[in-house]
Amino acid sequence: MTQKTAVITGGAGASAGGSGAYIAHKLASQGYYVVIWDINDEFAIDTLNTLQMKHKDAAFYHCDVTREDHVREAVAKTVEGTGRIDVLVNNAFWHADAQPPLHEVDLEDWNKHIDINLKSVFLSSKYVIPYLLEQDKSVIVNISTTAAHRGEFGYAAYAAAKAGVESLTRSIAAQYGRQGLRCNCVVPGLVLNVQLQKMTEKFPQAAEPFALIDKHALLEPGHGSGLDVAEVVSFLVSDASRWMTGESLILDGGTISHNAMWADVAELQ
Ligand SMILES: NC(=O)c1ccc[n+]([C@@H]2O[C@H](COP(=O)([O-])OP(=O)(O)OC[C@H]3O[C@@H](n4cnc5c(N)ncnc54)[C@H](O)[C@@H]3O)[C@@H](O)[C@H]2O)c1
Repeated sequence: MTQKTAVITGGAGASAGGSGAYIAHKLASQGYYVVIWDINDEFAIDTLNTLQMKHKDAAFYHCDVTREDHVREAVAKTVEGTGRIDVLVNNAFWHADAQPPLHEVDLEDWNKHIDINLKSVFLSSKYVIPYLLEQDKSVIVNISTTAAHRGEFGYAAYAAAKAGVESLTRSIAAQYGRQGLRCNCVVPGLVLNVQLQKMTEKFPQAAEPFALIDKHALLEPGHGSGLDVAEVVSFLVSDASRWMTGESLILDGGTISHNAMWADVAELQ
């Protein structure tokens, strides 16, 4: 098959932000045969139907990316269907709404976060890389979070796992760069999502801190969306970024690039 294939883990977009589905649509609009691996069959089939209506070529395979047998089978089915893999986007994730302080986190919960957010990236990469190396040029894009770049209450395991993903990004880039495989990472900040909207409906008092984040932390007004993430993934997949590998690109409206308190002081001047 001459059409390039892009595998997107978590491509159903079943979580709050929906980046996976935006990425799937963006890459399909650029001519990729998009293959979704996800555990949420309902959302995945929905996304697949829209993809097929708009772009014809797309597939979905039920795959729990924390399970080696699932990943092996999904790779086999993908290659059986399209004969090739050119792009892998490691987007699937999960985290608890919030964890207790670290000394109260139980091992099972810790392991669950590491499995879905870090082990999954290892497994998908491990089994897809041999096919990526068959192409002259291929790309892996991992998705991290700004929580991996600063301390955050209640998200220690998630943040640690994503910091691992960024490190893995550099190792993959170093190991396979000379064989035509580039590997970069997108690092989104808070992406406005249904979960947040529900939270402000349920706890109206949360609206005020979010308004403060809007006012003080964001340099570019308005929260980001899955579409913003998809645009950057699309750049990293394309030849326009051919000289970039092993990098982490922060995408957060400028939030962690500056000291928000300083902006408050400046306003008083
Ligand atoms: N939403 C945010 O505010 C935010 C902020 C920073 C970073 N991110 C990162 O962006 C990426 C996308 O997040 P999103 O909120 O847009 O979610 P999303 O809508 O893209 O959903 C993630 C998908 O992962 C799937 N998934 C969960 N467990 C899985 C498993 N074991 N196997 C296969 N699929 C599985 C879910 O069903 C869902 O479809 C994630 O990597 C996340 O860490 C999100």
